[in-house]
Amino acid sequence: MGEILRVRGGRPLEGTVRLPSAKNSVLPILAAAVLADGPVVLRDVPDLADVHASVAILRALGLTVRRRGGDLHLLPAPVPGWQLPEAPARAMRSSVFYLAPVLHRAGCVRMPMPGGCRLGPRPIDIHLDGLSRMGAQTLWEDGWLELRTSARLQGIDYTLRLPSVGATETLLMAAALAKGDTVLRNVAREPEIRDLADFLNACGARIEGAGQPVIRVQGKTSLHGARHRPIPDRIVAATVAAAVAGCGGCVTMLGTGEDPLGPVADVLERAGCHTDHPVPESWRVQRQDRLQGVGLVRTGVWPGFSTDAAPVVAGGLLAAQGDTVVEDTVFEDRFACAEGFAQLGGQVCRRGRALAMHGPVQLSGARVRAADLRGGAGLAVAALAAAGESVVEGAEYVRRGYADLAGMFRALGADVCAGRENRA
Ligand code: EPZ
Repeated sequence: MGEILRVRGGRPLEGTVRLPSAKNSVLPILAAAVLADGPVVLRDVPDLADVHASVAILRALGLTVRRRGGDLHLLPAPVPGWQLPEAPARAMRSSVFYLAPVLHRAGCVRMPMPGGCRLGPRPIDIHLDGLSRMGAQTLWEDGWLELRTSARLQGIDYTLRLPSVGATETLLMAAALAKGDTVLRNVAREPEIRDLADFLNACGARIEGAGQPVIRVQGKTSLHGARHRPIPDRIVAATVAAAVAGCGGCVTMLGTGEDPLGPVADVLERAGCHTDHPVPESWRVQRQDRLQGVGLVRTGVWPGFSTDAAPVVAGGLLAAQGDTVVEDTVFEDRFACAEGFAQLGGQVCRRGRALAMHGPVQLSGARVRAADLRGGAGLAVAALAAAGESVVEGAEYVRRGYADLAGMFRALGADVCAGRENRA
């Protein structure tokens, strides 16, 4: 039985939606909770497949994890585990975040190579290089990775080969309890990095400069628990905004925190959308005029145009008049969804890392298949704008990053439902 989204598109979107907490904040913070000697409460944690996988890993490591309404309550492991359970660890890229915390707690950690969306090669060499310079010994055996350390990890002055989000987060967690000070240079600056640092500082860490190119950390001997509300999900915001661009209408997002979209808002305004902030921490997007192509859009690390927003914005601009080229500089294979866009009537072609689109075109319903999380969301966005019925197969990918994409858009007037069907 495969999960699907069934969409009857062509309707404008109207209404208000509250943004959930950011998946890419919640996942590293759940791993960082392993470092705390006391209770941790995470507020408003979305019900995502990757959160379920994280909870399975945490429980296998001996922590107590209970969901109370929208909050997750975690208690430390009486005896820290060190082997990650294979299935959840292989189910997502975020299992890599457990390397540093478990190494600190147990002196060793064993896990399979992490999974995650197939977006091209996704090595973890920077994570491992930084940890080894802090004193970890690394061993690969039959596709399993084992790290050991005979003593407490040592603080370092380290320049990342490239500003990897995950590697920055791994080394932040490693530095928080390392012996001595750590300086991390050429780090990622995404809002989720700041959010992880805020959580760790709430637990008693001394991290300065998160969100800047250089982060300084004073290693502590222990961290206590904390209560933390993760930042809102800027990629869910981009997804809703792109759907308004494609379908037309007017939607207000609440609980946006700082401007969740930056360059994404600029691109959507160039396409013919109007955006404003009717009340504090809100973001309204409307499109009444004809959708225009926006020329070249190049993704980049923060504060650039987010790579995760590329497929959903492409889905929203698929029918636009003129030309749009979205080039992803971060991942090699971001546009596996191009085939589905073409099946929906889009005039698209892939040129290396870029997706070129030309219009106007009239999109019409089709059966399409998602190959990854954001590509699946992009296909759903395009299907919402397409006249007639579409089926998006592989909707299990979408559930990794959206608790209830169908419900969220139904509340905005769309005709979409989630379901299952026998896979032929
Ligand atoms: C995080 O993935 C996000 N995932 C991704 O979101 C996001 O697309 C990505 O950052 C970029 O913003 C989570 O936060 C859970 P990277 P991550 O390390 O950490 C290369 C989604 O849809 N690299 O910044 O894996 C890597 O191959 C997901 O929500 C190395 O070469 O991204 C890639 O080309 C998809 N060696 C580039 O860096 C390393 O050790 C950026 O990867 C690490 C990364």
